[in-house]
Amino acid sequence: MSYFEYRGDTLYVEGLPLDQIANQVGTPTYVYSRAALTQNFRAYADACRAHGRGESGAIVCYSVKSNSNLAVLNLLGQLGSGFDIVSGGELLRVLAAGGDPRKVIFSGVGKSEEEIKLALSHDILCFNVESIPELHRLSAIASSMGRQARVSLRVNPDVDPKTHPYISTGLKDNKFGIAFEDALETYRIAHSLPHIEVTGIDCHIGSQLLDDAPLLEALDKVIELVDQLQSMGIALHHLDIGGGIGITYDNEKPVAVADYLARLFKRIDHWRAEKYDGAPISVMFEPGRSIVGNAGVLLTRVEYLKHGATKNFAVVDAAMNDLMRPAMYEAWHGVQSVNRRDATAMSYDVVGPVCESGDWLARNRQLTLAPGDLLAIMSAGAYGMTMASNYNTRGRAAEVLVDGSRFSVIRRRENPKDLFALESIVE
Ligand code: LLP
Repeated sequence: MSYFEYRGDTLYVEGLPLDQIANQVGTPTYVYSRAALTQNFRAYADACRAHGRGESGAIVCYSVKSNSNLAVLNLLGQLGSGFDIVSGGELLRVLAAGGDPRKVIFSGVGKSEEEIKLALSHDILCFNVESIPELHRLSAIASSMGRQARVSLRVNPDVDPKTHPYISTGLKDNKFGIAFEDALETYRIAHSLPHIEVTGIDCHIGSQLLDDAPLLEALDKVIELVDQLQSMGIALHHLDIGGGIGITYDNEKPVAVADYLARLFKRIDHWRAEKYDGAPISVMFEPGRSIVGNAGVLLTRVEYLKHGATKNFAVVDAAMNDLMRPAMYEAWHGVQSVNRRDATAMSYDVVGPVCESGDWLARNRQLTLAPGDLLAIMSAGAYGMTMASNYNTRGRAAEVLVDGSRFSVIRRRENPKDLFALESIVE
């Protein structure tokens, strides 16, 4: 169910007209629906429970990079989520939001010494290690701190996720993970290092996957490795299959989370029954986009309508610095008028005020517009605000969380002084 719907000619989020938020908070503003976030998280949690996985049998580690607002993290933490982080900064956010460090897994190819120390001092659940040098660094730091680092190796299964090349991560020539053919040797090294406890295996092949076939193919390869490791005397406690399913931006039809997880658990159960007398293995997921993507919109106001020689432009007050996805991946986001008008539509490119030709949010859209109109850029909850920048000394947008017919500002708009507060003139 969508929580962004028209009532009459006005676009609502849950029980609240979006124009009310724009009038009170201004634009551009990211607006998230609490009910949608909850529903999307529960799709994973309920499917785990339906397949007999309790707290320790499966853990959903929300991918913080997709939307890291403290209120979002806090809500998901309250729903029982763990967290997949990729920096020390993200760990500090999780802690500030009241998240449980024992449900945190740390991914990423370039963990610094400081980040590793911070994570060890909070005794996080697991490091997803991506290289042999990282293993050595982790072991040395853990030894110096008298700590044990729980580790899973991120293996690269060389499976084509059939998604945008910039968000494919599991192919041979991607920078991510440990090559499949090097995995056993790397596990042997990990197993031999002091202060490293090998607990799991991890892979992540890409984002915005609409079909689960590549994920199940990756699972099969991971299962193969787990069996080989078992015969080497390395018994794993968990497997982590990476990010979640893709979402509908336009008319894509992603597989339902419940169907994907049903197939995945069926394979795992069959395998465990056949080879391990049914002894369970814990399963982890790192979904981001499918939890927050369709739970958020970017609210923006039309500044000018500009009728060019070959094109019409709607110049709005949001720009590529607010939502980078169109400029970076030519990503498609729906555009809806917050107050629908009854007049003939025209084709517009929706563009921002930034001085770049790449500063567009949508192209060739049939819209009925007047200056001052409000637009909602749809499906902008994931990789929207977290990828925003201050280019052109533009303060980042405000963020709002809606609950029923009430809303809270969960991040105030940055003002220009915030942007140069850390700078100084040389005397
Ligand atoms: N785990 C790892 C190790 C990841 O690298 C990612 C995303 C995820 C989990 C979460 O995947 P999801 O469930 O969101 O598909 N900025 C791009 C997406 C980059 C994704 C990077 N990794 C975009 O706007 O489409």
